[in-house]
Amino acid sequence: MKEVYLDNAATTPMTPEVIDEMTTQMKDAWGNASTGYSYGRNAKLVLENSRHVLAQSINADDNEIVITSGGTESDNTAIIQTAFARQKLGKHIITTAIEHEAVLKPLHFLEEHGFEVTYLPVDENGNISLTDFKAALRDDTILVTIMSGNNEVGSRMPIHEIGEILKDHQAWFHTDAVQAYGLLPIDVKADHIDMLSTSAHKLNGPKMIGFLYRRDGINFPSFIKGGDQETKRRAGTENVPAVAAFAKAVSIDTPEEKKRRQERYYHFKKKIVQGLRDNGVDFDVNGEIKPDNLNHVLNLWFKGISTYVMQTDLDLAGIAVSGGSACTAGSIEPSHVLTAMYGADSPRISQSIRISFGALNTDEDIDKLINAVVKIVNKLKKINGGEE
Ligand SMILES: Cc1ncc(COP(=O)(O)O)c(C=O)c1O
Repeated sequence: MKEVYLDNAATTPMTPEVIDEMTTQMKDAWGNASTGYSYGRNAKLVLENSRHVLAQSINADDNEIVITSGGTESDNTAIIQTAFARQKLGKHIITTAIEHEAVLKPLHFLEEHGFEVTYLPVDENGNISLTDFKAALRDDTILVTIMSGNNEVGSRMPIHEIGEILKDHQAWFHTDAVQAYGLLPIDVKADHIDMLSTSAHKLNGPKMIGFLYRRDGINFPSFIKGGDQETKRRAGTENVPAVAAFAKAVSIDTPEEKKRRQERYYHFKKKIVQGLRDNGVDFDVNGEIKPDNLNHVLNLWFKGISTYVMQTDLDLAGIAVSGGSACTAGSIEPSHVLTAMYGADSPRISQSIRISFGALNTDEDIDKLINAVVKIVNKLKKINGGEE
């Protein structure tokens, strides 16, 4: 039986066009882009053409795109370097309770170094309130880091409104767009975004490559210390074939294609919910299903069935989904996102799974998922009345 991959928020497979581009450039553009002879010049040309594609995709200028090793490095750089470069102006930072660890851990590190962080709460749908945001903003706030869309429940943050509010404030505005970049049109100028993180492997590109958009005028030293690559903003020899493959993935993911994917994933979500309901499965959606959320993520609570059992049984049925939480040494850590939405005592924390769609998923995959879940639920009902 063909395996079904439904964990695209974790990572996506590289598509054939992207693999072709990468292998071509591994043969043609393997030179060091910082060298002055023909091999280097050729690599540099491929690098700069790719940078142009990446810049265009968010309405940025080419010199505002700094190639990094992906979302984690981009987030770390934006947060830690901003804090240390601007500490004379204040030590206060605003974020949300449901950011990715790549944002939360650097913030915890800064707290240990005397910075103060406000974590905006979220409601049961994973949304923050602008009133809370305005109340948290202070004269000594130097950085606001708020994700564009959440990786566990797909809720979106009011990026445009926050950008408008911060236009006349000293705080720099960073957004982690790692999940949103492949699905939403992004315009850093219209939204007054100062820094934005992306990652290629979430949109069918290679892993360990991404970029940090740094608005012209955002100045801080390179986070990674070493050579003068990326106009002294990120040391280390660029992986030109991977950057070219990233640009290829981005060029396939046109605004029209993003819109098409959003609609298609919305249809998948509704189909799953309807299919499970029709078969009497006792479940609830974590968050909400609405057309303008990040539609590739669907988080479901299967009442009375532990995350571990559902995930393992689906794996045995050839379907890969996420437990929505980190699995360390056999123990499942509770999701901080679901905890922020429903409280630490909610059964949802230990009984939910995340299903996430990608460019290669078909309606047939969705049918297989529905059938498999129904079978698992009915089997468990027979064994022990559905209780774990
Ligand atoms: C919202 C978000 N931010 C950051 C990251 C980290 O990105 P990367 O895997 O490229 O380091 C992820 C990856 O899961 C993510 O979903």
